[in-house]
Amino acid sequence: MKTLEEIRKQFAQDSNAVKTVEQVQELRVRYVGRKSGALNEILRSLKSLSEEEKHSVGASANVLRKEIEQKLDELQKTMNGEAQQGVIEDLTLPGVAPQVGHLHPLTLVTNELMDIFASMGFMIYEGPELENDFYNFESLNFADDHPARDIQDTFVIKTPITRKEKRTFGSKNPWLMRAHTSNMQVRIMEQFQPPLRCVVPGRVFRNEATDASHEHTFYQLEGFVVDKNITIGHAMWTLKEILRQIFKKDVRIRLRPGFFPFVEPGYELDCSCLICNGIGCPTCKRSGWVELVPCGMIHPKVFEAAGYAHGAYTGFAFGLGLSRLTMMKYGIKDIRMFTSNDRLAFLEQF
Ligand code: FA5
Repeated sequence: MKTLEEIRKQFAQDSNAVKTVEQVQELRVRYVGRKSGALNEILRSLKSLSEEEKHSVGASANVLRKEIEQKLDELQKTMNGEAQQGVIEDLTLPGVAPQVGHLHPLTLVTNELMDIFASMGFMIYEGPELENDFYNFESLNFADDHPARDIQDTFVIKTPITRKEKRTFGSKNPWLMRAHTSNMQVRIMEQFQPPLRCVVPGRVFRNEATDASHEHTFYQLEGFVVDKNITIGHAMWTLKEILRQIFKKDVRIRLRPGFFPFVEPGYELDCSCLICNGIGCPTCKRSGWVELVPCGMIHPKVFEAAGYAHGAYTGFAFGLGLSRLTMMKYGIKDIRMFTSNDRLAFLEQF
């Protein structure tokens, strides 16, 4: 019977000479096979040894078994790899198509709207999501304690304000997540003189209990036109035309009086629910109508905040609910699907 050292040497020689998977298998049987493997022969002979010898020879035999098995596994992997390299795949099989991404439905609708507005001569602007109280509320004629602020309740940033901010804004922390894209009205008017046609798509935030048509984070599109002699008639034509182009058909609309401190008069433009065709469903709160575009004639106080001469201009403004419009266009029943966890399953439909 060979000693462990002899087995180790012999295995080193044999394993160097191996060329095929079959030879690896044959070595496995010869060295570590249960029945006639060289190592098992040694283990079987342990019976005749003293307790002390049993321990030391047994442990060394196990170390050698691991070494041999490891080497055999490596050899097998190498042989398998080489064997596969020679195989020619079936060239007539169809290839694996790479997965191609696509734009989010909200982006698709925003892009489409941008094209429509650009074709009507509107300029397109973006604005900050972290905003101060002046542009989100004060410049838009929201008095400090006016209940209209509650409807647009948003998330306030609680970091301590700097000395410079204190000089500009007073001691109250002015920073908040904008509650609407109307924050861009005065920002833009400060930069440009009329005539002005402008749209601002963007993300807005509200401290809001969520349901099928309400999210705490959603998208709006602000639009406004300022010039001499602009009337609500211009607003109605523009909005109806936009909805017709985006839905690719005439949609029924209705106008209700609505209050926003920065327009006078103010309206709510509702469109007939396209999910249920006006019959009533959870999305339209069973009313058959979806509140889509609040609008109105720009309040003189807004022009004043922007520094325009008193009475020189008139204009209309509107705030399109972009998330809701996308829901109507694609028949999405719940606004929370835009950001819920199973996003791929949802997004791959568009
Ligand atoms: C505003 O935000 C005004 N800034 C709109 C405006 C602009 C009025 C210019 C007049 C002139 P309102 O809070 O109603 O208004 O929101 C506008 C639209 O955003 C709504 O019609 C609705 O479509 C959508 N919206 C409002 N709250 C939510 C919400 N929590 N989740 C999803 N969409 C919402």
